[in-house]
Amino acid sequence: MKRFAILTSGGDAPGMNAAIRAATLVGVSGGAEVIGIQHGYQGLLDGELTPLGPGDVVDIIRDGGTILGSARCPDFHDPKARVEARARLAGADVEGLLVVGGNGSLTGLEALTAPSENDSGLLGVGIPASIDNDVGSTRLSIGVDTAVNTIVEACDKIMDTATAHDRTFIVEVMGRACGYLAMASGIASAANVVLFPEMGRTPDEVIETVVRAVLGAQRRGRHRSKRVLVIKAEGVDVPLDHLRTQVEARLKEELGDVRATDTRVTVLGHVVRGGRPSALDRQIASRLANVGVKTLAAGRTRLVACWKPPKRPEDATPADPQCSTIDLSVVLEETRAMLGGSSGFVRWRRQAFQDIENMLAI
Ligand code: F6P
Repeated sequence: MKRFAILTSGGDAPGMNAAIRAATLVGVSGGAEVIGIQHGYQGLLDGELTPLGPGDVVDIIRDGGTILGSARCPDFHDPKARVEARARLAGADVEGLLVVGGNGSLTGLEALTAPSENDSGLLGVGIPASIDNDVGSTRLSIGVDTAVNTIVEACDKIMDTATAHDRTFIVEVMGRACGYLAMASGIASAANVVLFPEMGRTPDEVIETVVRAVLGAQRRGRHRSKRVLVIKAEGVDVPLDHLRTQVEARLKEELGDVRATDTRVTVLGHVVRGGRPSALDRQIASRLANVGVKTLAAGRTRLVACWKPPKRPEDATPADPQCSTIDLSVVLEETRAMLGGSSGFVRWRRQAFQDIENMLAI
C-alpha cells in the first residue's frame, strides 16, 4: 500500500492520539505515506487532507482528544456525499482508510467501502473508539478505560462529602444508550445503585430502586455513614430533577423526616471524555492501530480491529494474538443487538447486576 489515510470521527475519546501515532509510525516504517484527515468525515468532504509523518506524532500519546479533530457529519447519510468522499480519496491517491470512531463512524465506513459497479472499492478498516463502549464484538473500545477511571476518581471525591453529610448523591454519567460506563464505574466506586438503560425499568421502578437503597442505608447503625451513591447512565430516561424530587417525596412518606435524607445530583458530562489516556487505552489504541494498518497493507477490507482475545488461535491476527479482525457487518450486527438488548453480552450484564443489586444496596 503506497498511501493510506486516517480520520477520527464522532465523540473524541482518550487514546485516539495513540492510535494516530501508532498508525503513522507503522505506516511510515512499512514504506507508506500517511495522510491525516481533519475533522472526520466532514473534513474528508471539505478536502482537509494533510500528510502525517513521525515528527507530527511525537509525544501525542499522552494527550486526550485528537490532533486531527473530530466532527459529527449528518451529511454523510446522503449517498451523494459518499460518492464525493470516495472521489476525494481517489483524487489524492489514497488506497485505504482507517476510521477511528464509534458506532456511527463505523456505519459510515460500511457505506463508504461498499463495493459498487463502477469502482473497485476503497479499502477500509475500523478501529473502535468511543467512551460509551457501545461497539459490538470488542471487549473495550478506545477511551473506555480512561473514562471509567475519570468517573471513579470523581465518585471517590464526591463520596468524601457524601459520607461526611450522610447524603445521597445521584451521579449521572455519559454513555448514550449504553450503560457500560455506569456499570463498570459503579462496581469500582462501591455504588449502592447502578441505573442503566439495559435494565429496562420504568421511571417509577427507577425511583423505587433508589428509595429502597436509601432506606437500606438508614438501617446501617448509629455510627455508620448513611451515604448512598447512585450512578445513573444518561440513557436512563428519567429527568434528574424529577428523579430527585420523587425520591425525596417517597422518602418523606416512608420516613416522615426529610432531614434524615438529603439528595444531591452531579452531572459529570463532558469531563468524562477528556484527560490523559490511561496506560491501558494507550496500549489498546496502539495495538489496534498496528493491526489496522497491517490489515490494510495486506489488501483486506471492511474489517474492524477488535480488542478481544480470539476464541481459537487460528482467528488471531498475525500482527498480535490479542487482536482479531472481524467482519464489519458482523460488528455492526452485534452493535445493533447490544443497543436493542438482544446481545448475549447485554443479557449477561443485566443478569449480573440483577444478581448483585441487593448486595450493592447494603
Ligand atoms: O458518544 C460519546 C458521547 O460522549 C456520549 O456519551 C454522549 O451522549 C455524546 O457523545 C455527547 O455528544 P456531544 O459531545 O456531541 O454533545
